[in-house]
Amino acid sequence: MKEKLDAIKQKALEKLSQVTDLDGLNEIRVEFLGKKGELTAVLKSMKDVSPEDRPKVGQFVNDARVAIEEKMDEIKKTFEAKALENKLKSEVIDVTLPGKDPEVGHRHPNTIALSEVEKIFIGMGYEVIEGPEVEYDYFNFEALNIPANHPAKDEQDTFYISKDILLRTQTSSCQARVMMDKKPPIRVISPGRVYRSDEVDATHSPCFHQIEGLVIDKNITFADLKGTLAEFAKALFGEDTKVKFRPHHFPFTEPSAECDVSCFKCGGKGCRFCKGSGWIEILGCGMVHPRVLEMRDIDPKEYTGFAFGLGLERIALLKYEIDDMRLMYENDTRFLKQF
Ligand code: DAH
Repeated sequence: MKEKLDAIKQKALEKLSQVTDLDGLNEIRVEFLGKKGELTAVLKSMKDVSPEDRPKVGQFVNDARVAIEEKMDEIKKTFEAKALENKLKSEVIDVTLPGKDPEVGHRHPNTIALSEVEKIFIGMGYEVIEGPEVEYDYFNFEALNIPANHPAKDEQDTFYISKDILLRTQTSSCQARVMMDKKPPIRVISPGRVYRSDEVDATHSPCFHQIEGLVIDKNITFADLKGTLAEFAKALFGEDTKVKFRPHHFPFTEPSAECDVSCFKCGGKGCRFCKGSGWIEILGCGMVHPRVLEMRDIDPKEYTGFAFGLGLERIALLKYEIDDMRLMYENDTRFLKQF
């Protein structure tokens, strides 16, 4: 019996010395220690052994089983260590590899230009307010002294929602609203979208942005308007920038003017950028029309004011030397990434 057991043990250890993986190890376990395994078969035959020999034989069987199991455990441990080592190797992080830049969004040139303009006027003590884009005809036209038969009211220029409601064509619509909400002194700018039924081209869009400015107080004169806009132009386009005012007409201001800035590209000598004139038109402005004040119960003998309105896209296109306004609305990341 002892020889038989030694042979089984030897055979098992021999097989174990050649095993290469956990599957193989399991097969050997089944072959020798499983229900139908060789060693188990010996154990089952114990009943045929005489009672006096049983303890001894039992001891042999046990020794053989322990020897095989110990070897198996030892091999299993080396396999597991190897597997762990491989896993760690495959998961190793090369900290010297160059990092991947996270994709970061960019501010739209309009947004950048708007925050610059806002910063300048906030610095001068202005408050930033907003008005509705869907507006009453009244605030967009009538309250601004624009007569009912004015060409701008034409359906060809204005998007009407109903007879009395429209998409505002100018941020000037905020003027009357501010004068209802606040008592003078008033010093506000109001940026936002405006709508006109224009065909899309390099300089037009049916939806664009304006920034309105309105100041009402005692003793406000055209000199205040000029001084304010001169400071604004310097802050936005550079210290050397000059401003020029040309007489113009707007129904809600009297007198009215258009304001040009000296070309910041050529300094006023004339270049392709300013179409040779040395000047670039940037906004409309004027002294608030007495009728506009009266309609809001502000006495024009006591209070005067000035207003101005500028196109935000125009500022952004000028500042960043963009020559086609359509780029501003296409959201092409190749364009936006440059800002
Ligand atoms: N609302 C005018 C426009 O859209 C711009 C403008 C001109 C605004 C003169 C003003 C102003 O406040 O005083 O063309």
